[in-house]
Amino acid sequence: MALLEVTNLKKSFQDTEVLKGINFSLEKGEVLAIIGSSGSGKTTLLRCLNFLETADSGSIQVEHYTIFGGEDKAAAAALRNPKQIRKNRLYFGLVFQSFHLFPQYTVLQNLTLSAYLKALKENKTLPRQERRTKAEIRSDLDQQAMELLARVGLSEKVSSYPCELSGGQQQRVAIARALMLTPDILCFDEPTSALDPELTKEVLGVIRSLKSSDTTMIVVTHEMDFARNVADKVIFMAHGIIEEEGTPEEVFDHPKSPILQSFISNT
Ligand SMILES: Nc1ncnc2c1ncn2[C@@H]1O[C@H](COP(=O)(O)OP(=O)(O)OP(=O)(O)O)[C@@H](O)[C@H]1O
Ligand SMILES: [Mg+2]
Repeated sequence: MALLEVTNLKKSFQDTEVLKGINFSLEKGEVLAIIGSSGSGKTTLLRCLNFLETADSGSIQVEHYTIFGGEDKAAAAALRNPKQIRKNRLYFGLVFQSFHLFPQYTVLQNLTLSAYLKALKENKTLPRQERRTKAEIRSDLDQQAMELLARVGLSEKVSSYPCELSGGQQQRVAIARALMLTPDILCFDEPTSALDPELTKEVLGVIRSLKSSDTTMIVVTHEMDFARNVADKVIFMAHGIIEEEGTPEEVFDHPKSPILQSFISNT
């Protein structure tokens, strides 16, 4: 079974239907690029997957778990419980266009803060004799954070504050922070659109390197070369539906839909 299965996902804001029934699946380790013009519903889709918005209907399954919706009405209602949503949110990580780092914390603290709260919660559920001390948890997380910072090439910035970093460095910190929570699927919403071309290259390089470590990713992007070279699958969204999907070759070299043909010739 696919790692992620999204079925007939719908979302309206007031009387505007923004997602009109989205269906796709993703295998473990795959990279999905989502392209499409402004207002087509790309961000809304990512926000629904990350439970920042609640879809109106449809279902989301990760591995064999239904984490949203589903046939069984009582089970679907139970999934809307805030505690359950907080838990299900952890299947996904989200990296935004504008980094969203905590300005008052160092790079290391940015990485470890949410992970620490998560680890404390998990620790409480263990039998007393298996629980770790707060100091042990902190030291494990600091070590994990250092490893991730090395992976994104920022070991020397561990004690810096976000304002002391370039945009590309801030985005790499945001990526490392998302990875600290070990999501099954890491989502990016136009991760480079606030960056100049040099910094864009740097951030795309990091995302590309995650692919080789088998991270499953969904990347909303305007970087067509990146989508072509890194994605296993490309989805083209238009007006709240998946207008076309396929391999990068199919979508970029042999687009069938006239809207996609015109989108590609304009980019
Ligand atoms: N919270 C909201 N309330 C009302 N309408 C919204 C809300 N969020 C999004 N929309 C509308 O939903 C539509 C899709 O928006 P969305 O942000 O998902 O598009 P997008 O594909 O990410 O566009 P872009 O490429 O510009 O980021 C737009 O028409 C937008 O105005
Ligand atoms: Mg968007």
